[in-house]
Amino acid sequence: MGEQRKFITYLDSMSPPPRIQPMKWTREEIYEKLEQLRKAPKKDPRAGTVASLYNPSTGNVMGTTPSILAGFQWIEPGEHGQAHRHTFAGIYYVVRGRGYTVVDGQKIEWKEGDVLSLPAWSFHENVNTDPNEPAILLGVFDLPLMMGLRTMLEEELEGGYQEIKQEV
Ligand SMILES: [Fe+2]
Repeated sequence: MGEQRKFITYLDSMSPPPRIQPMKWTREEIYEKLEQLRKAPKKDPRAGTVASLYNPSTGNVMGTTPSILAGFQWIEPGEHGQAHRHTFAGIYYVVRGRGYTVVDGQKIEWKEGDVLSLPAWSFHENVNTDPNEPAILLGVFDLPLMMGLRTMLEEELEGGYQEIKQEV
């Protein structure tokens, strides 16, 4: 333990900041990955098929930038994800399809091109209401920031689904 400790003088270790590489993921790569992942036998009951964009130059175990994670969520026709909440907040952009998200009992319908903001620590579940077509959401989350602060926490809702109290 003693060998791992050291002193750093005032702000010296922060200059210059580490260089983060710009990165691009093509539409073809993203769809190919989603197609591959959705055939996997075991999926997360909360989120279905998720392909997150990882930039290794962040030096983190995940993240598209050091503080932000972007990822695509493929929701199968009629799929209903299980309710959960986490300390990272998010923004969803509806790339394709239609459906709704229940946020703390509030049902919010969405369609292609819509944007939805998801507050931190709010129970949510995403639903694809189209019986034939998949829905695709682009999610942008401050998850790596929460991990860096050691404040990342996640909880599943007992029973799996929320009661809808209000519709928007
Ligand atoms: Fe979530």
